Amino acid sequence: MSEHSPSSRPLLDLAQARLERRRFLTRMAAGALATALPKPLRAKVSAQVGSTLTFDPLQNRLDDTIHVATGHRARVLIAFGDPVLSDAPSFDPSHLSASGARQQFGYGNDFVAFFPLPFGSKRSDRGLLAVNHETTEPSLMWPGVGKRTELDANQTEIEMLAQGLSVIEIARGDDGHFARVGSSRFHRRWSAFSEMELTGPASGDDRLKTSGDSSGTRVLGTFANCAGGQTPWGTVLSCEENFHKHFIGSFTTNREVRNFQRHNFDLENETEYGWGRHHPRFDVDREPNESYRFGWVVEIDPYDPHSLPKKRTALGRFKHEGATVSIDPDGRVVVYSGDDDRFEYLYKFVSDGRYDENDRERNRNLLDSGTLFVARFEEDGSGRWIALVFGTNGLTPANDFHSPADVLIEARRAADIVGATPLDRPEDVETNPVTGKVYVNLTNNKKRKPAQVDAANPRAKNLHGHILEITPPERRGGRNHAALDFRWEVFLMGGDPSDRSSQARYHPAMTADQWLSCPDNVTFDSRGRMWFTTDQGENQKANGIADGLRACDTEGDGRALPKLFFTVPFGAELCGPCFTPDERTLFVAIQHPGEGDHHLKDGKSSYEDPSTRWPDFDATKPPRPAIVEITRDDGGVIG
Ligand code: FEO
Ligand code: CA
Ligand code: CA
Ligand code: CA
Repeated sequence: MSEHSPSSRPLLDLAQARLERRRFLTRMAAGALATALPKPLRAKVSAQVGSTLTFDPLQNRLDDTIHVATGHRARVLIAFGDPVLSDAPSFDPSHLSASGARQQFGYGNDFVAFFPLPFGSKRSDRGLLAVNHETTEPSLMWPGVGKRTELDANQTEIEMLAQGLSVIEIARGDDGHFARVGSSRFHRRWSAFSEMELTGPASGDDRLKTSGDSSGTRVLGTFANCAGGQTPWGTVLSCEENFHKHFIGSFTTNREVRNFQRHNFDLENETEYGWGRHHPRFDVDREPNESYRFGWVVEIDPYDPHSLPKKRTALGRFKHEGATVSIDPDGRVVVYSGDDDRFEYLYKFVSDGRYDENDRERNRNLLDSGTLFVARFEEDGSGRWIALVFGTNGLTPANDFHSPADVLIEARRAADIVGATPLDRPEDVETNPVTGKVYVNLTNNKKRKPAQVDAANPRAKNLHGHILEITPPERRGGRNHAALDFRWEVFLMGGDPSDRSSQARYHPAMTADQWLSCPDNVTFDSRGRMWFTTDQGENQKANGIADGLRACDTEGDGRALPKLFFTVPFGAELCGPCFTPDERTLFVAIQHPGEGDHHLKDGKSSYEDPSTRWPDFDATKPPRPAIVEITRDDGGVIG
């Protein structure tokens, strides 16, 4: 036993040491430590002290591959074009085909959710992995493609098949690593062609009827599936985000022009998909209502290979980033969802019915009946949820709302009328499982003008984004997620902390080498530490740092002191983060590697000359989006 072991020291000494430590940490939290230390010591000590996270943070960097903190390993589980269905062909970049795409892993992997097998267990060695496919990048899928407008009918069909969702059954091998099970009845793909049901209050409404579906209840497909959520009854919520990019038509002359404009439909923009060039249902002049059948939250049961996905209209129609489920102490189901566009809103749905953990069947349609609310953030740190209910708060015929369905289909316009707070692009929202506080990642908003700054959006020309922390009132020892009021504060603001003009705001010990920009997806570990990703988009090259995954405490001495854990290659953003229940495996989604600027030279990255060939680094293959499994070298719990 060493002489510094606590048990060898007198009790008084120990108490004194604790007191000293508390004083030390208090001083540090006040910023005293950083200035008291001699300069060379600052960076190293300040990045470590206070945080409960034990890994050594990576330095910010930007290159053509992935990096993970020392003591961990990262390996690809599945990539674009790999088999999903049991008999699917393997990836062949020189012969992408519709018949292959129908059975293979899609493009643009975003949300990732792990469902233990069997349902109801907490097993971490076998499960179903549900993954969203948000985007397709033709210039990296085929040689010689410059603009999306150049795609032929076959290529467009492949794009339509490569968005949507995949579910694969995976199992952990004796080596401690997961692999897709070769043959499984659970392997499934959904795409822009898969049949789905529209359920809830807007189902069957005239505005959801098309020439192909006179009932207004059956829709073909889901696409632009960004983030999502998991319900405690074992279903995945997949969110349709940028659905407007897939349509063409005369958005300025159509009878529904106001609604197209409110969702930024834009035919002139050749970077968008425009599937209507080959599929008339995506031409709003020929099929004016088809676009109303997208922009919803889709609920899918991965445990039932024959289940029909349900688009839950009660949760409203907008550019849903994600859908995070919390259970109120009284059993009502609350789903938080951000609308990711500049100056858009934060919503929540509160179910009428109550969750019953012993009766899966009873929970099945809880998301069909309830109330949609939108958030208003007051300057004094209070906030309230305003109900979007037909006939109230101005949601009346005088304002051209004629039914509950109108309010849900035009949730954005309804939220405008009731006075919701426009935010700086709400991305993922997540509840801390320990404290019940809710975190809202606002990724950026370069268009906010000084006159539009408010307490919840405190920075004009917000290039680096920020995170809001919402505290619902307490109730029965938990957090009252269904309440109409809340408290809130700014948790952190991105940017370089050594640059005063950036208005960055973190724990005072945050160092310049750990700076971050544009928070996006977020999850929590069971100790209540936040793991969040970044997506700098077009600013990645100018910022000169990679996107990646960071972890930080939300309470105590390490609050708002993020540590960089993982980085992604040129052009990519990081999505997903998802732990297995034992937290010995962390899945992340590397989305669009090699997209956009070349990074190493002038011009665009392309199939022929990409900025990275991650993950294959094979001259015959383009870069591919992929799911990566992260484990500790010693097989221990991550973090
Ligand atoms: Fe698909 Fe808002 O990220
Ligand atoms: Ca996102
Ligand atoms: Ca999340
Ligand atoms: Ca983003």
